[in-house]
Amino acid sequence: MTQTLTIRRPDDWHLHLRDGDMLRAVLPYTARDFARAIIMPNLVPPVVTGNDARAYRDRIMAALPQGADFTPLMTLYLTENTDPEDVAAAHAEGLITAVKLYPAGATTNSASGVSSFDKVQPVLEKMAEIGLPLCTHGEVTDNDVDIFDREAVFIDRVLDPIRRAHPQLRVVMEHITTANAADYVRSAETGLAATITTHHLVINRNHILSGGIKPHYYCLPVAKRENHRIALRAAATSGDPRFFLGTDSAPHTDANKLQPCGCAGCFTAPNTLSILAEVFEQDNALDKLENFTSLNGPAFYGLPPNEATTTLQRTAPDTPAFIETPEGPVTVFDPMMDLHWSS
Ligand code: NCD
Ligand code: ZN
Repeated sequence: MTQTLTIRRPDDWHLHLRDGDMLRAVLPYTARDFARAIIMPNLVPPVVTGNDARAYRDRIMAALPQGADFTPLMTLYLTENTDPEDVAAAHAEGLITAVKLYPAGATTNSASGVSSFDKVQPVLEKMAEIGLPLCTHGEVTDNDVDIFDREAVFIDRVLDPIRRAHPQLRVVMEHITTANAADYVRSAETGLAATITTHHLVINRNHILSGGIKPHYYCLPVAKRENHRIALRAAATSGDPRFFLGTDSAPHTDANKLQPCGCAGCFTAPNTLSILAEVFEQDNALDKLENFTSLNGPAFYGLPPNEATTTLQRTAPDTPAFIETPEGPVTVFDPMMDLHWSS
């Protein structure tokens, strides 16, 4: 049996680091295992201008542990007031790697997101022109659309029209949760990719709702039926370059999760690599792990893969059940299975 597995150092193409004390508490877990990460801009207030992104990047760099090998790849939060020229300038300066589209109200801190997609056409046009990718939170927010259908409806009502209007725009469907999304990504020849989270490879909606409600498994987009989880695993372990890791590790304190109206998000940064190695080994696809964690993402974003390597050892990880932060404990995602690989 293989005892070690050496892969190029992974990157995380969708990550929430928050700010202040929480940033300082969670960043070391990502910096330990990942060389780069696409940093989500949904702070309060959000990261909307090039200047905001520069300041946030500097706060992340200041919070890094000594000697860490980690580069934050910054994003801007698209609003109906976003100035195409500010976006272009931030891109030209090398400050940002993508722009993030949140439909208004779709998820945590998305109140400043987009309600009228017409209003952001000039920004999308500029992004297509300069080759700057759009990352999408792919859910409609209409109350008359069932929460389990919101991703599939987003593809038809929002994403496909955007892609038809801007054929040159490069788009990442983030944290996909359905077979519909995986199929849609496969239907495109170029310019479309998807990130898949660690937790959506592990849980289906029963894990949230059956046998008592489990707030720590509640995230957005919400986990779907088992057939969708299986489709996501097939996509992730296939080696298909259009699918790559975006953990969506989203720390919330237990106090904020365990509420009558609790926050969405799973905190997976500390054990993501252990869980992924387990999942890929279960599916006889350990040879595809590196594609998913370290090769497909940089290829889509036009960046070189990392030169440094990471060696996973076949030994049980000692991941804590929760981490302490000055804001209170944050529970680490429990994959409900024995893990056999440590990073
Ligand atoms: C994210 C968060 O907490 O910021 N939550 C989540 O459930 N994934 C926001 C997001 O990516 O939707
Ligand atoms: Zn997210």
